[in-house]
Amino acid sequence: MRFRSRITGTGSYVPEQVLTNFDLEKRVDTTDEWITERTGIKERRIAGEETTSDLCLEASKRALQAAGVKPGEVDLIIVATMSGDMPMPSTASILHKKLCAKNSGAFDVNAACSGFLYGLSVADNFIRSGAMKRILLVGAEVMSRFVDWQDRSTCVLFGDGAGAVVLERTRGQRGILSTHLYSDGNMWDYICLPGGGASHPPTAKTVKDKMHVVKMKGNETFKVAVRTLEKLVTDTLKENNIRPSELAMIIPHQANLRIIKATAERLHMPMSKVAVNVDRYGNTSSASIPIALDEVVREERIKKDDYVLLEAFGAGLTWASALIKW
Ligand code: ACO
Repeated sequence: MRFRSRITGTGSYVPEQVLTNFDLEKRVDTTDEWITERTGIKERRIAGEETTSDLCLEASKRALQAAGVKPGEVDLIIVATMSGDMPMPSTASILHKKLCAKNSGAFDVNAACSGFLYGLSVADNFIRSGAMKRILLVGAEVMSRFVDWQDRSTCVLFGDGAGAVVLERTRGQRGILSTHLYSDGNMWDYICLPGGGASHPPTAKTVKDKMHVVKMKGNETFKVAVRTLEKLVTDTLKENNIRPSELAMIIPHQANLRIIKATAERLHMPMSKVAVNVDRYGNTSSASIPIALDEVVREERIKKDDYVLLEAFGAGLTWASALIKW
């Protein structure tokens, strides 16, 4: 029988500092009522001194401990992030040092909010091919350092955090059944951070023009997200011959509770079977799915042999899904 990959440990970490909607009311022209109604967010976490790799480290330690795997036993470290410690080296390389990992490769994946599922697909394929046995995959963001705290349309949305999984080689029926990756670059400017790269290297002018913070066409993105995710989840189930009623849990990317509910409704899934943490953490981008996964695992909301659907949508535009037999 062919190899398969299975998640054998999960972990997550969020910074201590809580920023509520009421705190934001004092900073920008917004209200708790607007943010709650339009997004479902009540509060988010903000990193203090910590960097993205620090968040990765805490989440990774917890995932490795849950899997009973030592850092030196990992073949590869992948970090999904768009808010890494620095453009070079990768945050995965900095995590490699902090974990005292020895024998593994390390690189970052950037697919914005779909990053964790892109990383999961890469990891799954390395393991399926027989090239690797154990991979540490982390989704982590410190988005609070890349938003304009005077722009009410974006600063209320994002939060900081990290989630990690250990994937191991198996020959059984359980594990990652399929992963699905998509992108449409025609809409790259719907969500972007234009400054700091080769197009607009950092200068005093790019800083003055606020080019180093997230820009988002929120409403346009919202409409594409709802439409695209509906098709994504139904196609993913069809390809695996699974009926929505057979799913034990959906773990969606946490951008907006209205988007999460629309997808759940499409599948006739009760919200009790949908993982939600957007209310407590906001949009933690590539960290949102692994944090939510860790929460449902630790709360024992999924059990052996359950079908679990993961789905995400984000900048690129990118979207992705994965079906797991837990
Ligand atoms: N408080 C009060 N009013 C606000 C705020 C705020 N924080 N933000 C915007 N508004 C106002 C707008 O100015 C606008 O006012 P106007 O009608 O007078 O012009 C009004 O509220 C409506 O604004 P919309 O942008 O149309 O509001 P919408 O209902 O679309 O909600 C939101 C905005 C929450 C951003 C939503 O569009 C959304 O969730 N979009 C999708 C985000 C997403 O999925 N992103 C992908 C992942 S992110 C990534 O990859 C990095």
